[in-house]
Amino acid sequence: MGARDPFTFPEVMRPVLLRPARYKVLRGGRGSGKSWGVAEVLVVLASLIPLRVLCARELQISIADSVHRLLCDWIERKGLLSKYVITNTAISCPSTGSLFIFKGLKHNISEIKSMEGIDICWVEEAQRVSESSWETLIPTIRKEGSEIWITFNPDSEDDPTWLRFVANPPPSCLSAEVNYIHNPHFPDTLRAEMEHLMRVDYEAYLHVWMGQPKGRSKAQVLFGKWRVDRWDSPPPGADGPYYGADWGFSVDPSAGVRCWLDGRRLLIDYEVGGVNIELDDLRGELAKLPGLTDGNGRVIRGDSSRPETIAHLARNRPGQPGLRLIAADKWPGSVEDGIAWLRGLDEIVIHERCTNVIQEARLWSYKTDRLTDDVLPVLKPGNDHWWDAVRYALQPLIKKRDPIKAVPNFHMAR
Ligand SMILES: Nc1ncnc2c1ncn2[C@@H]1O[C@H](COP(=O)(O)OP(=O)(O)O)[C@@H](O)[C@H]1O
Ligand SMILES: [Mg+2]
Repeated sequence: MGARDPFTFPEVMRPVLLRPARYKVLRGGRGSGKSWGVAEVLVVLASLIPLRVLCARELQISIADSVHRLLCDWIERKGLLSKYVITNTAISCPSTGSLFIFKGLKHNISEIKSMEGIDICWVEEAQRVSESSWETLIPTIRKEGSEIWITFNPDSEDDPTWLRFVANPPPSCLSAEVNYIHNPHFPDTLRAEMEHLMRVDYEAYLHVWMGQPKGRSKAQVLFGKWRVDRWDSPPPGADGPYYGADWGFSVDPSAGVRCWLDGRRLLIDYEVGGVNIELDDLRGELAKLPGLTDGNGRVIRGDSSRPETIAHLARNRPGQPGLRLIAADKWPGSVEDGIAWLRGLDEIVIHERCTNVIQEARLWSYKTDRLTDDVLPVLKPGNDHWWDAVRYALQPLIKKRDPIKAVPNFHMAR
């Protein structure tokens, strides 16, 4: 479906929800729009084509526990009340023959086993689903082309749902991680709750609102240092802007950032980049960073390991905005020095729109010992591209250790 499709769910869910796959997995924190997004799509689809939809969750004591209400609200919101017949236990669309059924896996599994012709099974709150429920449910959804849609807020990495669909995804599994930062409709009441938890219990915030499985945060390189916020313009008197870029190749993204220093606070307010950006498009991508090519002479520092990229981008061409690109210094230990510098800041505040920077802040981690789970002083590869760009942007300050005094470069002392 193209740009004029009728859906309003967050953009990051699009590649999952609008393409066929045996398994469609949306995971993330509260308030991301997962439940609403799936309900919206199902209500529209079932009004267009015949679909038998089983709405399942581990425990459903009464229909009030189910997504029944949510679907009804979407039917109304989409102006489809005249097409649907709603009863206390089911929802149907006579013109297409579509039917929604609501069941709890734990108590209704024998009923579910005898069901025929389910096209889509939506498993909501799937972090609660037990391994035995999965084992029974999956073979029950056996119609040719049938799909299992899974929405969940990860609890622990040992949970059956995480193990099955994130740690070891089955064939034909599309998945996306969605958090409130991706939800343009994130309501103010939830925002107030989110901000409160971020202040009083940062680790709980990462779990509840950023979809991070419990216990994983301690291995984050920037644990306890970063938070998400939004603001209109940088604080008066802040130094900057500083620009940095990292070049991707094959599966790695290219990344660009803009940041500011406000005393001992680092603010990151714009990001650009992504995977598969051709060298010829990279310049235009970087030029999207506000203020970089407006003739004020700001420089951008880039990864020096690919001099040909720097040379290509720095060559000014007629009709294109000038780019003052310089290679960022690297030295033995420059990554560790960069981390120590970042951790020496009072805080790192990332603008809500910088979703890649935020994603990597969550995922950029140290290795942990396989048996004891202790955090080790060894970086896990990956999830560091936008943070490389941040390090390059600030490289002269990092090298001078300015404004930060030397701090231990590894934070196990917590
Ligand atoms: N498509 C949408 N249109 C309008 N508001 C939305 C939409 N999607 C989500 N919301 C708002 O965001 C809130 C959280 O969405 P929800 O689907 O419940 O998140 P999650 O299931 O990820 O916790 C909803 O209560 C609603 O206020
Ligand atoms: Mg939900």
